[in-house]
Amino acid sequence: MRTPIIAGNWKMNKTAEEAVAFVREIRNGLSQIKGIDKVVCPPFIAIPAVADALQATEIGVGAQNMHFAENGAYTGELAANMLTPYCQYVIIGHSERREYFNETDEGVNKKAKAALAHGLTPIICVGESLAQNEAGETQAFVSGQVRAALAGLTAEQVASLVIAYEPIWAIGTGKSASAAQAGSIIGLSVRGPIAEMFGEDTAQKVRIQYGGSANEKNIAEYMAQPDIDGALVGGASLKASFVELVKNAV
Ligand code: PGA
Repeated sequence: MRTPIIAGNWKMNKTAEEAVAFVREIRNGLSQIKGIDKVVCPPFIAIPAVADALQATEIGVGAQNMHFAENGAYTGELAANMLTPYCQYVIIGHSERREYFNETDEGVNKKAKAALAHGLTPIICVGESLAQNEAGETQAFVSGQVRAALAGLTAEQVASLVIAYEPIWAIGTGKSASAAQAGSIIGLSVRGPIAEMFGEDTAQKVRIQYGGSANEKNIAEYMAQPDIDGALVGGASLKASFVELVKNAV
């Protein structure tokens, strides 16, 4: 049985002070919800203070990005070992990073390897654009992203990580993919290629999230899909109703 996992991707929102006030507001409510992993992913600068505020809880902390190198001349970047004192998770290859910061499948693969080498659980994002969706290219594109992201990993590593399927046209648009549509793409284009690469046993262990305008009202429908194990939540993770969302996911 896969433990479901809901992660809040705060993106470039909340100062460190606002972040701490917010997690203090939601931590008790979130802690009462059992049988599901809960994660918040604040901006880098807020991570140490948020980790401190969540110390005595089971709520995980994730970063929104990292560099794949161990250290070096990469102005403005952070390495995995800078995150590990505070984080258990790291989002890798979010579509906004791929689109605005030229992240490639190859870079995503390197980051996944570096995160795993440092004991961080990667949340690897994949998903097609509206044009690709309309052209019927979803399955080929998404399964290609999955294969590239996981190339060279061991089955054990793959079993431990999280993948978020986020159709780009559904992110921040209020236009979510239908649960049946998301469930079927996740089964065919995410779990399917994992089974081909690493075996059915491994594919059954990987937790796969849906992402894209998930909220407290629609989350239960996604969770009812057998291949959907949680959600990566943007906008709806910034408000106290995030507790409701997690509650409605179990
Ligand atoms: P959204 O963002 O929930 O605001 O659509 C999801 C994401 O980008 O992870």
